[in-house]
Amino acid sequence: MSGQYSHLIDLNDYPVEWWNKVISLGASIYAHPQRYVQACAGKIMATLFYEPSTRTQMSFQSAMIRLGGSIIGFDNPMSSSVSKGENIKDTTKVVSSYSDILIIRHPMAGTAKAAALTAECPVVNAGDGGHLHPTQTLTDLLTLHMEKGRLDHLTVGLCGDLLYGRTVHSLCKALSCYPGNRFVLISTPELQIPEYITKMLRESGCEFRTETSLDEAIGELDVLYMTRIQRERFLSEAEYLAQKDVYRLTTEKMKRAKPDLAVLHPLPRVDEIEIAVDDDPRALYFKQAQYGMYVRMALILRLLESETALPLLHGVQDEKLCCVNPKCITAQEHYLPRHFIEVGGKTVCEYCEERAVPASAYR
Ligand code: CP
Repeated sequence: MSGQYSHLIDLNDYPVEWWNKVISLGASIYAHPQRYVQACAGKIMATLFYEPSTRTQMSFQSAMIRLGGSIIGFDNPMSSSVSKGENIKDTTKVVSSYSDILIIRHPMAGTAKAAALTAECPVVNAGDGGHLHPTQTLTDLLTLHMEKGRLDHLTVGLCGDLLYGRTVHSLCKALSCYPGNRFVLISTPELQIPEYITKMLRESGCEFRTETSLDEAIGELDVLYMTRIQRERFLSEAEYLAQKDVYRLTTEKMKRAKPDLAVLHPLPRVDEIEIAVDDDPRALYFKQAQYGMYVRMALILRLLESETALPLLHGVQDEKLCCVNPKCITAQEHYLPRHFIEVGGKTVCEYCEERAVPASAYR
């Protein structure tokens, strides 16, 4: 098993000081990009995108090119040997032997961690199902650092699909580590944030409340993080249709917001932000997407320079247990060691953080 590389699977695997260094480096690259044009000369980055992407894929690719490196990879697994049934382990093992850093996005939670187990280079989680999206979080943190001048003492409203929105989960986990941040979790009861996130907020001592009305909350916010309803993660079309138009940020609603509100959105947008809002100077989502490229340049540099390897699996292997999440990579790739950790008195899967149950219950 690989373990000698610095991977980025979950931002919370690293201390806040590490994130701050990446953010500072991203700000420095933003200010002086010409200083870094040869920083990765001779290096190759592989991008394995098993799921569609515009920003994450292209910002990583342009980041590596702007650092003087080269790129390989696929954005349609069906044009690779995945179409012949190749598993994550073999694809990762081979592609990582061609490259210096590997970026992976996959619809199943826990895939980046599974890939890192056998990779021969650093692996970056570019989104694993509805679980985490740590480089989006670094993007969001750099945006707040540049545009609000701080990452603490902010009232942050998160609105829309808080259940499946992995960017929301990663951002909550990250901002809970800075002092004084408050969260207003705005969603329908059906799309409330997963329990493990509220539990984490409670344990971190963060103030938070759930809210169903964007109108009620908007006036108190320093940051409004809008999200798309994640159609691709619903089990039925009817469930998606019931949720899709519930929240919409309009110029009318913006009249009730603070003059220095920062409106963020990881994008892509569907209908949840009226197009006319784009002309409001508080709408920062396109700038946010651009900051994503600079913070990914910083991340590539940090991981390629790092000599510190973090352990990938900390918990215990127990083949008598299994994960309840049908969208966990362990449900697809059966060779993976079943690993579990204790979180707040519960045993959870170490790949996707969902509950563990006796495997016999699933046979
Ligand atoms: N924010 C984000 O992850 O966008 P893409 O899906 O286009 O990469």
